Amino acid sequence: MELLIKNGRILDPSTNLDFIGDIYIKNGIIEEIGQDLQYSAEKLIDAKGLWVTPGLIDVHVHLREPGQEYKEDIESGSRSAAKGGFTTICCMPNTKPVVDNEVVVEYINMKAKKAGLVNVLPIGAITKGQEGEILANIGKMAEAGICAISEDGKSVLDANLLRKAMQYASMFDLPILSHCEEPSLATGFMNAGEMSALLGMKEIYPESEEIIVARDIILANNAKAKLHLCHLSTKGSIQLLKEAKLRGEIVTAEVTPHHFTLTEEAVEGYDTNTKVNPPLRTRIDVEAIKCGLRDGIVDIIATDHAPHHIDEKNCEYEVAANGIVGLETSVSLTITELVNKGYLTPIGLVEKMSTNPARMLGIDKGTLEIGKIADITIINPSIEYVVNGQEFESKSKNTPFNGMKLQGKAMYTIVGGQVIMEDGKIRGEIQ
Ligand code: DOR
Ligand code: ZN
Repeated sequence: MELLIKNGRILDPSTNLDFIGDIYIKNGIIEEIGQDLQYSAEKLIDAKGLWVTPGLIDVHVHLREPGQEYKEDIESGSRSAAKGGFTTICCMPNTKPVVDNEVVVEYINMKAKKAGLVNVLPIGAITKGQEGEILANIGKMAEAGICAISEDGKSVLDANLLRKAMQYASMFDLPILSHCEEPSLATGFMNAGEMSALLGMKEIYPESEEIIVARDIILANNAKAKLHLCHLSTKGSIQLLKEAKLRGEIVTAEVTPHHFTLTEEAVEGYDTNTKVNPPLRTRIDVEAIKCGLRDGIVDIIATDHAPHHIDEKNCEYEVAANGIVGLETSVSLTITELVNKGYLTPIGLVEKMSTNPARMLGIDKGTLEIGKIADITIINPSIEYVVNGQEFESKSKNTPFNGMKLQGKAMYTIVGGQVIMEDGKIRGEIQ
């Protein structure tokens, strides 16, 4: 199979490319990049006016399989990723059963292969059953191919156990993806602030996140572990991250599109689609996150794609499930909120959504280098559309962005040289 992409704006921070040109792909490999390439390929893509980037990577996704396939499964999650322009996704271990042993890792690998769309990299839990008491078998899961460990959904509260997990992880060169939440300060349902006072809703304090950010930075530095902080949401967290980086410590962090787009004010109408953990914060926090991305303090944009069934959202705010479907609006929100508003350049977007995620994971992706596997995303940066969750490929439709007019969309997703998404259609439906 040969593929020729013509006249696109080729954007690749890893090789310092930003020019209008062509890419020729043969047998799944990037063969040549340049101008006026003359090949007679089986498939020709006219990328005029489009961005051609290394395949987007989402390091924080919930696929719900095994155990909660009514919300999402590996196939529907893979389709959702393809639609959103992602070629690689990392799936969190808070499934039923939890991904805490090699058998579940192998099961996910098998199902991902069967879906045959995007690369799915499982993340292993830190403790057995995510119960915070006994370490999971990190070594065995590493052999089975996990890309990281995480207790996502909560923090490991026993600091000594986490210290040991970090030592283990560094032996296997695995990053630790830290969900930062001190539970005694997070007994409520929304950010502690003016809005929670107005709505009379029980609060989640910003300190809940910041205390654990500080603790995990200290622990990781002593254990020489690769710490990655998940979904940072407060100005204080960004400040702690900045200080650690200034000290030269090995730490990376992600923020989500919903945390850089929405504030706690979105909760006003009690729309349960705004209920997420960590919660939507204040205008000041949102600005700190956006400046953190702009200034290179925040490394990665990740979705925390968290699908939930309508019945788990169609209830009172207090009892609704936490989470937002993220894969299919991520590129559009990043272009609309960050590129169009001057926080990120197009190259900056690629850095946060492909180059840096690959570097953090230590995988040979996130690049358009010649000789590498052709995982490529082609984005139309100027197309405008109105979000309609009912059109998602994901099994779940819980988005707070319904009706929002956005700019920019993935037009093609190419994995290993195969076009798996073209203009919204998933392989099998493509003419
Ligand atoms: O909103 C969230 N949903 N935050 C998390 O940490 C977990 C996730 C989920 O699994 O639904
Ligand atoms: Zn998560």
